[in-house]
Amino acid sequence: MTEDTIEQNILAFADEALALTTGADYWTTPAAPGLGIRSVRLADGPHGLRVQNDENPDHLGLERSHPATCFPPAVTLASSWDVDLIERVGQALAVEARAAGVDVVLGPGLNIKRSPLCGRNFEYYSEDPLLAGMLAGAIARGLQSQGVAACLKHFAVNNQETDRLRVSANVDERALREIYLRAFQIAIEQSNAWTIMTSYNRINGTYASENSWLLKTVLRDEWGYDGVVVSDWGAVHDPVGSLKVGLDLRMPGRPGDERVRRAFAQDKLDIGVITETARRMQLLAERTAPQDASAEPDYHKHHALVREVAAKSSVLLTNDGALPVSISPGLRVAVIGELARKPRYQGAGSSRVNAIKVTNGLEALAARVEMAGGSLEFSRGYALDKVAQSTTLIEDAVAAAKRSDVTILFLGLPDSYEAEGSDRNSIELPANQLELLKALQAAAPKTIVAMSNGSAVTTASWRHSVNAIVEFWLTGQAHGEAIADILFGDVNPSGKLSETIPLRLEDTPAYLNFPGEHQNVTYGEGIYVGYRSYDARRQDVDHPFGHGLSYTTFDYSALEIDVRPLSDEIAVTARLLIRNTGTRRGAEVVQLYVHDHDDIVITPPIELRGWHKIELDPGATETVEIAVPRSRLEHWSSSLNAWIFGGGTVTIHVGSSSRDLRLSETVSLPGDPVTAPLTTWSTFGEWLDHPVAGQRLRSLFDARGGLKGRISDLLSDEVGKNSVRASPMVSIAEFPGVPIQPEDLEAICIEARTV
Ligand code: BGC
Repeated sequence: MTEDTIEQNILAFADEALALTTGADYWTTPAAPGLGIRSVRLADGPHGLRVQNDENPDHLGLERSHPATCFPPAVTLASSWDVDLIERVGQALAVEARAAGVDVVLGPGLNIKRSPLCGRNFEYYSEDPLLAGMLAGAIARGLQSQGVAACLKHFAVNNQETDRLRVSANVDERALREIYLRAFQIAIEQSNAWTIMTSYNRINGTYASENSWLLKTVLRDEWGYDGVVVSDWGAVHDPVGSLKVGLDLRMPGRPGDERVRRAFAQDKLDIGVITETARRMQLLAERTAPQDASAEPDYHKHHALVREVAAKSSVLLTNDGALPVSISPGLRVAVIGELARKPRYQGAGSSRVNAIKVTNGLEALAARVEMAGGSLEFSRGYALDKVAQSTTLIEDAVAAAKRSDVTILFLGLPDSYEAEGSDRNSIELPANQLELLKALQAAAPKTIVAMSNGSAVTTASWRHSVNAIVEFWLTGQAHGEAIADILFGDVNPSGKLSETIPLRLEDTPAYLNFPGEHQNVTYGEGIYVGYRSYDARRQDVDHPFGHGLSYTTFDYSALEIDVRPLSDEIAVTARLLIRNTGTRRGAEVVQLYVHDHDDIVITPPIELRGWHKIELDPGATETVEIAVPRSRLEHWSSSLNAWIFGGGTVTIHVGSSSRDLRLSETVSLPGDPVTAPLTTWSTFGEWLDHPVAGQRLRSLFDARGGLKGRISDLLSDEVGKNSVRASPMVSIAEFPGVPIQPEDLEAICIEARTV
């Protein structure tokens, strides 16, 4: 049925159309045969399928679901900075979805990591909106390339779990635009995601599902979004109001709720609203229509993909040369830590996947060590379900470490530390693991730490006491193999941090405003999220944004910046040479940051504006090119209510992390200078400097005998001048001796605007 026929039939099938505004049950939408719309099935997401028995559904991951591949969650994918790799994960996930009859996968989650404490950070990509948007866009593209809809979530500003169903995230518009909404905007541009999920929380007082500014003004009108807006499970409180502002589908289904039908019968809900929803549901059903020959999932292949992605996403935080470990016959390896036996490979909550199979570190390492003629012994080191340390566990671990040539220590966060629905209160490892680290300091000849956690854990207090640290995040189901691949050097680590690891919780930008109180949280740090804040405050960090070492080294040289004309949507292209100066093949993420010298809006010292991942053989050199679209240089001006970039001076930095900038060049970019429109509340200084108003004002002063009195004295005084120039023109006009009337100001304003 075409769109026109929906319009023609909507009255005849109004009941069907009304039913389409909510699910038929927990996971499916109703069919509307009269309107020619089939039922659609949704399932979590985001890093593997969670398809449940329809008799026993839940949205918290409590009931077991059908076995599926557990891919690495977003925190891990993000550290790869690899758009193509992530797109392949989306494709594989879609093949499993298709085979399970799922049309919509409820992911990716791409909320900004405002604080490392957020309990769902493992499901999110980054503290930076460009990185989050591009990578979430990649997985969405992968899913949709196989005809399965992605669902960008949670729109918007769902950056904490504490009180997530009630809290109002109170954020200024610039931070909303540049940080929190920007990631979604970019992901939509990159993927045209067919669905988007509203968050539970309120934004500046209004629930996301009822927020006309968010759903109508920004999403539909400004971004031109044509997909289905679905609510988070249970996030709708006013079903009629939500429909009116652009929410299409309320989930889970409440078919027995009469409120929408009643409003329609009483003429309180326009037929146009229902028609639009039916149209969008029809479009979704068409976009996801099952193809005749859906590919059967190859679970072995998917397991291999998990292994590849997990290894490529691991981040080598420190290394004094202890890694990679080469196993020679007779090498004695101690593997210490309960996480080696009971791996932490995914997070808890609605995203929990019933993994097809899970490999652990202990077995994977043992197989490799023994095959190469070495020996391996295991010691638990700590318990995962208790924080109190046991002397016996420590003593055993110390003895094992002493007997070893190399100790591989598995550390990380137990399952209960990170889950949907609650936030952490610390960024430290559990106390029993810290005690173990201390005890091992003197005992182990060489210690390599393999970390498994879904959100930032500081290594500040112990990193100097070990020889190397690899942050594996949450690997997905191929946990053991991925760890062995990295530690033994089969894969050269190339992951980079997509979030800053702070020294202390107290340093984090949102520290004093997280998680808020009385159902309100103030985003007092504004746009200064993540590295934008640490850099602006010149704070030391544990490991900076973009950091990640390799078993090889890279040299950066010959940076050239090509400034493009204003008519080109690319503002600048950076070209440089990257050379692999080590002895192993490896990949480098070349990052481009921009420092904007403009003073129209306050800008952070540097902002990520592009990157390129390149893989090189030892000794090889290649040219890397990174193009920066003009729109990426824009900032939101609250006074102009617009995105602005007026050209001017910018410094382009390229480097290996946000704090390892290797080459820089300052250039001047063309642009139409941005000036704030003159109002009577503009400052005296702004009036005097304005090309039209300044001249008119001066000639009025001259004609009326000049400026007299206190204002005149201060203006001619070197020190007093600034305070006069900073005062609003309307206030200046109030002072004795200023020969200007309010009408003069209005007239000059009009003239200034029309010239
Ligand atoms: C979560 C969503 C999830 C939904 C369905 C909610 O509790 O916030 O991310 O997709 O449940 O399980």
